[in-house]
Amino acid sequence: MWKKIFRSGSDTKEDAAALMNSINRENLPRHVAIIMDGNGRWAKRRGMPRTYGHNAGVKTLKKILKTANSLGIEVLTVYAFSTENWKRPHTEVDCLMQLFAEYLDREMQEMNEDNVRIHFIGRTDAFSPLLRDMMTKAETMMAGNSGIHFNVAVNYGARDEIVRAVQSLMSMSKAGEMQPEDLTEELFDASLDTSGDPPVDLLIRTGGDLRLSNYLLWQCAYAELWFTDTNWPAFSPEEFLRAIQDFSGRHRRFGGLDDE
Ligand code: FPP
Repeated sequence: MWKKIFRSGSDTKEDAAALMNSINRENLPRHVAIIMDGNGRWAKRRGMPRTYGHNAGVKTLKKILKTANSLGIEVLTVYAFSTENWKRPHTEVDCLMQLFAEYLDREMQEMNEDNVRIHFIGRTDAFSPLLRDMMTKAETMMAGNSGIHFNVAVNYGARDEIVRAVQSLMSMSKAGEMQPEDLTEELFDASLDTSGDPPVDLLIRTGGDLRLSNYLLWQCAYAELWFTDTNWPAFSPEEFLRAIQDFSGRHRRFGGLDDE
């Protein structure tokens, strides 16, 4: 299994098994979120169009999903398209839509065999009926799987998600189904797109920037942050494991004090 994932390129340089063994399994993140940044810059450095970087980014995503699933991580949430990404040239937006469709078409079967449960979060209603149909088909096909819960954030913005949650809660209140004082953190959490998932334990951002970019703002309240200069297409399973290893050695206090 590990040989298969780590087979190519620089991934063979380190002993993946040793890295795996050094991870404290008692302290794995339950939910890992990733901002997959740097596709465009990676491509530009190679004298290629940005879309070349997105294509390479899909290959990275496949490897990281397999690694996270094998490790026993419960939830992986990746930022594939933000509510702000519509501002990009339409050729790039079209390419990304095409990539999502191709990815689903090509990978759905294998993800299902790997016991992955896919779920799309964000305003999916903005996509073409064909793409929406493919997303629903993939979700339905994998709904009963017990492996990693793989959230793909598309047309996603955390502020937008929060406003939609508030809207639905206000509608319930208006219909007399709840009173304002009934609102709890748990109920609010259950009104978000990630309903049912544990909070994000570890947020990874590739590409060198140190910001959250409107991603999972509620869910990341106590997330540990891990930034790398590596651009997403060059992000390897080894580097992912290093982030997990780093997390597994961290001590989280959640606002409390260290034990004596
Ligand atoms: C950010 O890099 C990346 C994106 C906006 C798209 C992410 C998409 C993928 C990794 C591939 C498709 C995903 C799926 C689920 C099939 P950027 O373009 O902003 O890079 P830059 O900062 O170097 O310009």
